Amino acid sequence: MISPDTIDKIMDATRIEEVVGEFVNLKKRGVNLLGLCPFHNEKTPSFNVSAAKGIYKCFGCGKGGNAVNFLMEHEHFTYPEALRFLAGKYSIEIDEAKPSPEWQQAQNEKESLFNLSAFAQKYFQEQLHDSAEGRAVGLTYLKERGFSMEVIRRFGLGYCPEKWDSFSQTALKSGYKKEYLVKASLSKTKDHLLYDTFRGRIVFPIHNLSGRVLGFGARILGSEKNRPKYINSAESEIYHKSKALYGIYFAKSAMAREDNCYLVEGYTDVLSLQQAGVNNVISTSGTALSTGQIKLIRRYTANVTLLFDADPAGIKAAFRGIDQVLEEGLNVRIVSFPEGEDPDSYARKKRPAEVRALIGENATDFITFKTRLLLGEVNNDPIKKSGLIREISRTIALIPEPITRSLYVRQCSEMMQVDEKLLVAEVNKLRRQQFNARSRQGPHSADDLPPPSAEAPARQANEGQQNNDSQEKELIRLLLQYGGHAIHFEVENEDKRMEEVGMKVAEFVVGDIRADQLLFDNRACQLIFDLFAGALEQKSLPGIKPLTGHPDEEVRQLVIDLLSSPYSLSKNWESRHRIYVADEEESLKPPVIQAVYAFKLKKLEKMILENQKQIREASASDDPDSEPLQQLMETNRELTAKRSLFANALNRVVTR
Ligand code: UTP
Ligand code: MN
Repeated sequence: MISPDTIDKIMDATRIEEVVGEFVNLKKRGVNLLGLCPFHNEKTPSFNVSAAKGIYKCFGCGKGGNAVNFLMEHEHFTYPEALRFLAGKYSIEIDEAKPSPEWQQAQNEKESLFNLSAFAQKYFQEQLHDSAEGRAVGLTYLKERGFSMEVIRRFGLGYCPEKWDSFSQTALKSGYKKEYLVKASLSKTKDHLLYDTFRGRIVFPIHNLSGRVLGFGARILGSEKNRPKYINSAESEIYHKSKALYGIYFAKSAMAREDNCYLVEGYTDVLSLQQAGVNNVISTSGTALSTGQIKLIRRYTANVTLLFDADPAGIKAAFRGIDQVLEEGLNVRIVSFPEGEDPDSYARKKRPAEVRALIGENATDFITFKTRLLLGEVNNDPIKKSGLIREISRTIALIPEPITRSLYVRQCSEMMQVDEKLLVAEVNKLRRQQFNARSRQGPHSADDLPPPSAEAPARQANEGQQNNDSQEKELIRLLLQYGGHAIHFEVENEDKRMEEVGMKVAEFVVGDIRADQLLFDNRACQLIFDLFAGALEQKSLPGIKPLTGHPDEEVRQLVIDLLSSPYSLSKNWESRHRIYVADEEESLKPPVIQAVYAFKLKKLEKMILENQKQIREASASDDPDSEPLQQLMETNRELTAKRSLFANALNRVVTR
C-alpha cells in the first residue's frame, strides 16, 4: 500500500495538463486548456483542463475528475496503478505503508478471489481452445452457433471439462485454497470432496469495469430438460450481481460515444450483437434489472434502449424495465423482436447491417410501445382504452423530472385523443399515491416530495423545478468557488454605532445554516458542507486537492461539476439580474445571501408539506396519540409566516 505521505507528494507534483497532454492534444483557451474529448466522439472540442484547479471536465459527455481519475478512466488503471504511474512520471519514490490487519485481511480476501477468478478464466479458455474435449464439444458448439473466433477470444469464453473435478484439482495444485474455490462458486463440496460447479458447460466470464473477472455464467451444450440451462456464480465479496452488467467492460466506451446503450436479456445476445458491430450492448446475468445497474449505466449515458423478445416473459420484463429506467431519470426506448426471436437468433439470420438497421430504426418510445401492444386488445372499447391510458399514466407518473413528464403527457393526450388537463390530473393523482405508498414504506428524501396539486399543463412545463436539489448545489458551489472570499456586513456595535465587519463567505454560510440546524438532502452536498464546517472549526478551509480527489465518487463528481460550472459567479449574476458591479467582492454578497435564503425557503416548504400531511392525517383519524390538531395548526401558522418573511427577504435581495 502506498503511504498517505507519498500520495500527497505525488498529488503535489502532478500537473494535470502534463498528464492529460500525454493522451490529448490540448490548446490554450483563456485560462484553460481545450481539446477533443477522449471519452466520446466529437468534432468540436469541449474537453476542458484547468491547470489551476487540477481538474478536467468535458462539457459534451460530462466526464470530469483529477489526474488520477483521468488515468483510471482513460487507461483503465486501478487507483494504485494510477498513483504508481504518476510516481514514475514525476520520479517520486514510493514509500510503502503498512495497512491495518483488518483492512489487509479484507483486501487479501478480495484479491485472492480476483486472482482465482482470473486463473479460472484462463484455465477454461485454454480448455476450450487447446484440449481435445474442449475443441470437440465446446468450440464446435460455439462455432455451430455462428460465433466468430474473434468474439470468442475477446469475451474470454471457455469450457469446463465433464470430468468431476478437473478444474478443482488443477486449482488446488496451483496453490489456491479450497475455501476460496467454494466462495467463488467454482467448486462445490460433497462428502468433503470438491467437484467443479460448471463441468461440461461453456463458460462466460463476467468482467467489472476495469476488465477483471468477477464471476461466471455457464451454459449446457444441448437442451436437456431436467438441467438448468445456465448456472451462474453466486454473490461473493467481489461479485455483487446488482452492481455488475455482463459486457460493460467491452461496451462502456461505445456507450459514451454513442450516448446510448442496448440492454438485452442474455449472454448470447450480447455476443451476437457485438459480432454484428453493435458495441454498446450489455445484459444482466440471470437477475432482474436493479437500480444499481441503472446507476452504473448512467455513468456513461442517460439513454437506454431495451431489446426484448416478443414473448410474454420478454414483454413483462420490458414493462418492468421501462418503469425502472424512467424512475431513475434516464430515457428509455424499446425495440421488440419478432415473436420467438431474440437479438441473438435474429442476428444469426440477418446480415449485420440489417441488425443495426432494425435496432436503430425500430426503437420506439414507451407510449407507442405500450399502445401497440395493448391497443390490439382494445380496439374501440372505451373501458379497455381507459385502462390503457391509466397504465401509461402510471408509467409517466414515475418520471422524476417535471418537464419530461409533461412532454409525455402531451404525447399521450395526442395519441389517445384525450384531454391533456385530464391526463395531468390523473398523473398528479398517481404521483401522490406513489408518494404516499413510498412514505409509508419508510424514510424518504426530498426527491419524494409530493407533487403540487393539479396544475395546468403549461404551467407545469414552464415552472417545473429543474432539479430538486439545485438550491443545495448552488450553495455548495458558492462555498467551493468563493468560500475564502470576504463579504462585509454592517452591524450595530456596543455603542449603538454601525460598524462594518468582514467575514469569509464560508463562515457566513456555514454559520447561518448551522444556526438553524438545517441538513442537506443531497448526501454529497452534506458531506462537502461538513468538510467546510470541520475545517472552519480549525480556522481554515478545506484544500482543493482533497476535494477534487475525494475518495467518495459522488462527492468528487459533484466538486468537479460545480468547480467547472461554465458560469463564473459575477457573469451569471449580472446577466440574470442586469446589474453590473465593478467590485468583485461587493458583487458576491447578494448571490450568497440569496443562495442561503433559497436553501432555507426550500427546507421550509418541505416542513410545511410535512405539517400539512400531519394535519390531514390528524383530521382523518381520531387516534388519541396523534399530535393535537390545534398544535399542528399553530405550527402551520408559524411556518407559513416564516415563509413569507423569507420570501420577502429573498425578493429584496433579488430586486435590489
Ligand atoms: P434465455 O433462456 O433467453 O437464454 O435466458 P439465452 O441467453 O437466449 O441463451 P441461448 O441463446 O439459449 O443460449 C436469458 C438469460 O437469463 C439467464 C442467463 O443470464 C441468460 O443469458 N438464465 C437463463 C439463467 O441465469 N439461468 C437459466 O437457467 C436460464
Ligand atoms: Mn438466445
